[in-house]
Amino acid sequence: MESSLPLTIDRRTGLPLHLQLAEQFRAAILDGRLRSGHRLPSTRDLARDLSVSRSVTQAAYDQLHAEGWIEGRTGAGTYVTDVVPLQPAVRHRAAPQPDPAAELLSLRPGIPYIAPTPDPGWRRAWREVSTQSPPRGYDDAAGLPELRAALADHVGRVRGIACGPENILITNGTVHGLRLILTVTRRPGDRIAIEDPGYLNAVVAARDHHLDVVDVPVDSDGLRVSALTEVPAVYVTPSHQYPLGGRLPVARRNELVRWARRNDAMLIEDDYDSEFRYDVAPLPALAQLDLDRVVHLGTLSKTISPALRLGWLVASDAMVDRLARFRAESGDWPGWPMQAALLAMLRDGYLDQTVRKGRRLYADRRLHTCTALAPYGQIIGQEAGLHITLLLPTHLNDQAITTAARQAGVVVAPLSDYRRSTPGPPGLVIGYATPTTPDLHQALKILVQVLDRFDTSRKAPA
Ligand SMILES: Cc1ncc(COP(=O)(O)O)c(C=O)c1O
Repeated sequence: MESSLPLTIDRRTGLPLHLQLAEQFRAAILDGRLRSGHRLPSTRDLARDLSVSRSVTQAAYDQLHAEGWIEGRTGAGTYVTDVVPLQPAVRHRAAPQPDPAAELLSLRPGIPYIAPTPDPGWRRAWREVSTQSPPRGYDDAAGLPELRAALADHVGRVRGIACGPENILITNGTVHGLRLILTVTRRPGDRIAIEDPGYLNAVVAARDHHLDVVDVPVDSDGLRVSALTEVPAVYVTPSHQYPLGGRLPVARRNELVRWARRNDAMLIEDDYDSEFRYDVAPLPALAQLDLDRVVHLGTLSKTISPALRLGWLVASDAMVDRLARFRAESGDWPGWPMQAALLAMLRDGYLDQTVRKGRRLYADRRLHTCTALAPYGQIIGQEAGLHITLLLPTHLNDQAITTAARQAGVVVAPLSDYRRSTPGPPGLVIGYATPTTPDLHQALKILVQVLDRFDTSRKAPA
């Protein structure tokens, strides 16, 4: 029996015509309008009736056939099968909601300024990648050998870490590197010390690995080494403690490395925004002091863009070998184009140039931010990085202030979001790198008006 099913085609929806047809046949079979054994019109007749090309009707039938809704009997037409196929689960896709923060001025910490027009160094690197064929095989799981060599030179020059390519592993950024270390070297239930307040993604990574997170207090210089208990691993941000901004003094760095040797512990050094410091001398990386104890994590997220998802890990050659062996099995390492582009950026001096430009830009912005906010509390962490922290008088609630700021059009992070068990004053963590300079000025103007509505006259704690 031929079907006289009312079929419609709507060319405005953008949905391919054969999918529209197939969907209507499916619906008709499911609700019983077409029963098993029903004969369908030929693809030619159906195409003529609907004024579509035969390739459309043929594609619709092919689809229904592949899914088991219809069967063809050579020379005898096409029929609805007698087995109702398993219906694919309907995926209800929520309509994408506009991001409510997209319209706001952002002073959230952590993202560098990214110019709207790419500069020549960037374009040159990608042009170079586009002229090469990709390598044949699966590459080296530790990263491209030439890139590892270039990064060994780079970290030697800018971070004073004496190392070779065998000490470098290319990552998708800090968190990727951290998770790799935890996967390969830690067991569920192991303890790991993490700064409190500290970087929440590090805490989440540790908890995801079922580690027991030990909160270590922080002061204005960074991690309080004297407060460390016996743990086999410590995650630390010595170049600019996140989020308080302290720079771990040399004496404390030495004390930390001595402590690690005594306790046979691993130090995970997150060097996330070490490229930026203002009018202060560089401090030695922990990895410079003892590469057998320290795994050092570097990233492009604070210099070029977090969207690159690219970074590096520096460790002993034995550790790099161990991590690379794991990666060879997991298949989880950065793709060749990214690595090739970074190699070109290092070789052409693009990374150095971006850092130099950033330093100049951020130095002015930092000054402006500190000047605008100084009357409202104690500013800490301003010697380095891309953010400062404003400590507020203890009677204030930083969540209420950030809510009021958001209502006024500015996003800032409350310090209490970063605290776990160690109490401390409220505050605001303010990133000054992301917006354009006029937007930064506007955002600070608004933030100052918001702070004026709170009683900040009582002194912030020292
Ligand atoms: C303390 C800290 N470490 C590292 C990163 C960067 O992580 P990734 O390299 O994975 O982008 C951030 C970014 O906000 C950070 O705040």
